[in-house]
Amino acid sequence: MKKIHVDTRTPYDVLIERGTLSKSGELISTVTDSKKAVIITDDIVKDLYADTLVDSLEKAGISAAVFTFRNGEQSKTLSTLSDIFDFLCEQNLTRSDFLIALGGGVVGDITGFAAASYLRGIDFVQIPTTLLAQVDSSVGGKTAVDIKGGKNLVGAFKQPVLVICDSDTLKSLPKETLADGMAESIKYGMIRDKSLFELIEAHNIDNIDEVMDEMVYTCIDIKRAVVVNDEFDRGERMILNFGHTIGHAIEGWHNYTDYTHGMGVSAGMCIMTRRLCDASLTERLENCVKKYGLPTDTEAPMSELLPFCSTDKKREHDSISYIVCPEIGKADIVRVTVSEFAALMEG
Ligand code: GLY
Repeated sequence: MKKIHVDTRTPYDVLIERGTLSKSGELISTVTDSKKAVIITDDIVKDLYADTLVDSLEKAGISAAVFTFRNGEQSKTLSTLSDIFDFLCEQNLTRSDFLIALGGGVVGDITGFAAASYLRGIDFVQIPTTLLAQVDSSVGGKTAVDIKGGKNLVGAFKQPVLVICDSDTLKSLPKETLADGMAESIKYGMIRDKSLFELIEAHNIDNIDEVMDEMVYTCIDIKRAVVVNDEFDRGERMILNFGHTIGHAIEGWHNYTDYTHGMGVSAGMCIMTRRLCDASLTERLENCVKKYGLPTDTEAPMSELLPFCSTDKKREHDSISYIVCPEIGKADIVRVTVSEFAALMEG
C-alpha cells in the first residue's frame, strides 16, 4: 500500500491501494477509537459501494448509518447540509464519533463542511471514488457548499483524519468523469512535474488505468507539498489554480450544466498557455488533453467570460492572480489589476 503523510496543522495519511475499500474498517480503526459513524454519500455511489464499506466497518466493530442525497452539484447546498445536520442529531452522533465521505467532490466538500461545523467540529474520513476527488478535493482540507452568489462560497478549512483511495472504484466511472480528473492530473504535471506529464502524455483515456496508482500517488504528493507550505491558501497554493480562473468562467458561462470542471480547467490551461507561452508548448499541452477527450478552447467569447473572472474567489480588491507555466513542470503566479488581466485576455 502506498502512503503519503500530509503534515498540516492536524496531520493525516492518504492511503492508496486497489481494493482497499473492503479494508476500510480496519484502516479507520487505526485513527479513531470511536465505534460509531455516519457515512454520507450520493444515490449512485451508495448503490455501488455503501454495502462494502458498511460490512468492512462492522467487521472492525464500527456501526454506521448511511445518509444519501441526489448525485450532482445541485445537491451541494445549505439545504442538503441542514438535512445532514438533522440526520446526525437523529443518530445521536457525538463529538467523539465521526463522518465518512464516500463519493466524489460534492460528497467530500459537503461532508467536510458538516464535519467542520457539527458540534463545532468532529472528525471525518475521506473515501474519494472519482479521480477528481482522489487527486484534488479529498486532500488539503478545503470544504464548502454553493450559494446563489457562486460555487464554494461558504466553507471552512478542515483536514480529514484519513484519506483512503481505492483505484478499483474508478473503473465504474464514465469516460467523461475520468477525464474530469485527468485535467487536474495534467495540471499537476504542468505546474510541478515533467515526468508526470510525460507519463500521462504516453497514455490515453483507454489505457491510463495501467498506471493509475502511480499517477494518483504522484498527483497527491505534489498537492501535499504545496498544501503543507500554504495550508490556508495565501500564496503558493494558488499554483493549483493553473487554468482555473478562465476554467471557472467557462463553467459559469455554461451555467455549470453540461460542462464539467475538468473541461473548464483543460480549456483554461490551453487558453492561458496559447496567449502567454511558446507555440510548441501549447501544441504539446493540446495534444495531451485531446488524448483524454478534453477541450483545448471554448466557444464562449472572452468579453463574456471576463465578468465571471472578476467575481473569482482568488480576486483581491482590484487585482487578480493568474498562473502561467513557461515550461512543463514550472509555474509562476502573476498578480495584475483586473483591467490589465482583461487587456491581456482580450488582446
Ligand atoms: N483545489 C485547489 C486547492 O485545494 O487549493
